[in-house]
Amino acid sequence: MTRSAPAQPETAIATDEFLRDVEHGLTCPSQKYVPSQYLYDAVGSALFEVITLLPEYGLTRADERLLEASADTVPDYFDTTPVVAELGSGSGTKTRRVLSAFGGAGPGLYYPIDISVTALERCTSELGATEGLIVEPLACSYLDGLRRVVDRTADGQPLLVLFLGSTIGNFDRPHAGEFLSRIRETLRARDVLILGTDLEKPVADLLRAYDDAAGVTAAFNLNLLCRINRELDGEFDLSRFAHAARWNASERRIEMHLESLEHQSVRIGRADRVVDFERGETIWTESSHKFDREEVADMGRRAGFSCVAQWTDPEWPFAESVFLAD
Ligand code: AVI
Repeated sequence: MTRSAPAQPETAIATDEFLRDVEHGLTCPSQKYVPSQYLYDAVGSALFEVITLLPEYGLTRADERLLEASADTVPDYFDTTPVVAELGSGSGTKTRRVLSAFGGAGPGLYYPIDISVTALERCTSELGATEGLIVEPLACSYLDGLRRVVDRTADGQPLLVLFLGSTIGNFDRPHAGEFLSRIRETLRARDVLILGTDLEKPVADLLRAYDDAAGVTAAFNLNLLCRINRELDGEFDLSRFAHAARWNASERRIEMHLESLEHQSVRIGRADRVVDFERGETIWTESSHKFDREEVADMGRRAGFSCVAQWTDPEWPFAESVFLAD
């Protein structure tokens, strides 16, 4: 039986929230910042898709290789076919591989959860036509979405949660651990979480991955200023800012910044305010934390999971951890 997805996701992020977060971040006296979630408007999401194809950015291919090689073992963790929820509407390729591991009938119900309506639409169009699969996109925060999924899932019906692509690396380390605990609190015993994490590797490889020769990551980062211009009546001149990728050794993370190339003042119309920049001052736009395997297993254990498997890619150090809710 083929059933199609609902035409519209349920909610979308509000412009007022964007305005509030931009105002707050650009007036922070110690370090200007904008939360990384705002990188993903329609243009940013499309640019991120291109990033995943770049020769320098091995992360997504490693994630795909691991799932390709090991997805067939996932049904072994369940007595009955689970409902599948994905935090971040993943690429069709990775998700399809996991769903197909359940064989002909497959899991009937798949909930992609994302604040980006564009990403949900893309995912729905890629997977919505899969025979026997009902795709129910939820446009909201990961935890709100997961709570809704659990509320809709009968007791005794297991849940498989996918959090792939090392999106957890975009959280602060303490927040990442906290987030796993919140996921565990939401799940029931014996539900399963598959968590993708990018592992530490030579800094030169990381800097190339986040500052590629074709300038796609630079465009992805600078698009944030375009978005502020478009949606908040900002007056950023993009030629006066440059993309910068930096390795923060003590925090073990790549940071993306937008560096002001000169002393300048930028008006943001919707905020009715002018923001001053020193030459060399930056807006911090994203952190991408890198992990080691044991650290990831520990983080899961502290949150209330058992780490029952960990698959790693030899070509691009990356780990897929299978966590069983205790
Ligand atoms: C989505 N996330 C895991 C990516 C990363 O590698 O941290 C986002 C990204 N930013 C620049 N390139 C990729």
